[in-house]
Amino acid sequence: MKVCQCLLLLCLLHYSLALECEVIPGNLKQIDAGVGVVGGVNNDDEVFLLLGNEFRRINVTMKHFTVGPAGELAVNLSNSVFKFQSGQFSSIPITFKQVDAGGDQIIAGVTPLDDIFCLNKDANNIGPSSNFAWVQLAGKLKYYSCGPYSCWGVNAAGNILVRRSVTAASCGGLNAFDVISGSMSMVEVATDGSVFAIDTQRSLFQRTGVSASNPIGTGWLGFLVCPNGHKHVTFDLGRLYVICSDGSIRRCI
Ligand SMILES: *[C@@H]1O[C@H](CO)[C@@H](O)[C@H](O)[C@H]1NC(C)=O
Ligand SMILES: *[C@@H]1O[C@H](CO)[C@@H](O)[C@H](O)[C@H]1NC(C)=O
Repeated sequence: MKVCQCLLLLCLLHYSLALECEVIPGNLKQIDAGVGVVGGVNNDDEVFLLLGNEFRRINVTMKHFTVGPAGELAVNLSNSVFKFQSGQFSSIPITFKQVDAGGDQIIAGVTPLDDIFCLNKDANNIGPSSNFAWVQLAGKLKYYSCGPYSCWGVNAAGNILVRRSVTAASCGGLNAFDVISGSMSMVEVATDGSVFAIDTQRSLFQRTGVSASNPIGTGWLGFLVCPNGHKHVTFDLGRLYVICSDGSIRRCI
């Protein structure tokens, strides 16, 4: 009995770290937040932007959406990449299944074959060009996300790989990945450098101890936002946005 109580108390302490969450109406499979904008896509590949407390649909069909210092980008059903410019999504000549705009104006993404590419700030800011000098990083990842000084990815086996010393002029950073313990299905780096992840058991975690001087951090801290499991997570300007396994959306502070 005592053991049970202690375990329960531990769980409560472990999970209830002052996260206050509210449900935002809607249903999404993927969400990304950055520079104050929040967007996502649903199971029908419709794109939504959060306006106030409501997700409003914009009239494009995409399977993935990202927003951050590098702009607003999206991937269509045949893995073509688009960047939002001058009021419309313009095609970028590269094939990604997932793209990320969270770095210091660099673009990063992974191809359907899990090859990893990034684009430096100067090239990104020229606008869509067929001469883009994409940098290929050795290795394979199924999901890749960048923040101000590092990029985090997961591979098909769920291993977590971190690229350090990523800068606007050197999106490839250090010429190697650090491997972090754990088994994740996705990892997201926010614009302030904080790192959130969902593991292969649908549990939600934050990486502790992450800083510019220690980009790989120290450990994983669990949070319980969705009673029936977590599907996708993103963080921006002090707000955590979580998609639950059933597609429902929660915003937490
Ligand atoms: C939405 O986009 C489709 C295809 O591009 C177009 O035919 C349709 O008129 C658009 N609807 C609105 C309300 O803009
Ligand atoms: C995706 O975009 C590319 C480039 O514009 C286009 O050729 C392709 O038809 C699009 N795929 C879908 C499913 O709309």
